[in-house]
Amino acid sequence: MKLVEKLIQNRILSKEEFVELLANTDAEDREILRKEAVRLREKYYGHDVYIRGLIEFTNYCRNNCYYCGIRRDNRHLERYRLTKEEILSCCESGYRLGYRTFVLQGGEDPWFNDDRMEDIVHNIRTDYPDCAITLSVGERSRESYQRLKEAGADRYLLRHETANEAHYRKLHPEEMSLANRKECLYTLKELGYQVGAGFMVGAPGQTFECLAEDLIFLHDLQPEMIGIGPFLPHHETPFAHEEKGSYDLTIYLLSVLRVMFPNVLLPATTALGTIKATGREQGMLAGCNVVMPNLSPVANRKQYELYDNKICTGDEAAECRGCMENRMASVGYHLVVDRGDFKHA
Ligand code: 5AD
Ligand code: FES
Repeated sequence: MKLVEKLIQNRILSKEEFVELLANTDAEDREILRKEAVRLREKYYGHDVYIRGLIEFTNYCRNNCYYCGIRRDNRHLERYRLTKEEILSCCESGYRLGYRTFVLQGGEDPWFNDDRMEDIVHNIRTDYPDCAITLSVGERSRESYQRLKEAGADRYLLRHETANEAHYRKLHPEEMSLANRKECLYTLKELGYQVGAGFMVGAPGQTFECLAEDLIFLHDLQPEMIGIGPFLPHHETPFAHEEKGSYDLTIYLLSVLRVMFPNVLLPATTALGTIKATGREQGMLAGCNVVMPNLSPVANRKQYELYDNKICTGDEAAECRGCMENRMASVGYHLVVDRGDFKHA
């Protein structure tokens, strides 16, 4: 049996088989997988596209990841923090635009300790009882995750970045560890969060073996959400002169992921829209069912550049919403006003 057929049948392959699958550039095989991805996506989610309002509320970060534009050693970046009132005002404009999920994303900023985060989450929960709250604020203690869950958070995004120990060391300084990252993800699951993991495609040092290990790690974790996008260099990082990730491989991997996880929440990411103008539309045609337009104040957008040339940094929330509506319509899909929860199989 062909490997693509084996993946469609079993939803998992061995590491060696995944390496072979990823190395296979045969257009027909890739098209078989893409079609199956779209079939599964439509089986669970129809032509609906879930929207998440992304609020980038702090660009302070205690970490120093080699790939990331807001790493602590970037001295050429004006740092900002939104106040609780500013965050709530982003939610207010978002709600009016039809968003029913707010994603609070930031660097690992110690100023936002448990008391402050709890207060913010509790306020959003009270003001927007019909909305989902997603947090994306990195590695924290079990107690912290638990308090934020009790305050009203529903979901948590924490990309594992790479499941390969040696590759993890190439992307992060010594002070960070893959073991802790994985433990955080399992803790979040235990606490009842809908959990998102993921990785960059084409990060420096990444091999097909690394990617195969990523796919197997995700299979073990069984997350409700998976975020992937191409690696894109940022000029103020040690990876400034590294090659960007492959657009085609990212699209192919999105289809692979949809086939492995038929009902997963799979965003067409901003990085995919940055590497190619129609990347997010093509993402839908590869199995994606989520987009995450920006709700951050336009004044701060440029200061949250994880990589160079990030799109939408000059556009008001309302413009992004309209733009996205048109983009999705161009490929036969439509945005829905809905929390967009994970659908169990
Ligand atoms: N290129 C692409 N994606 C990046 N991220 C961070 N830096 C970059 C970059 N240079 C991704 C990481 C992180 C997510 C928020 O953004 O995977 O988890
Ligand atoms: Fe932001 Fe198109 S989605 S301008």
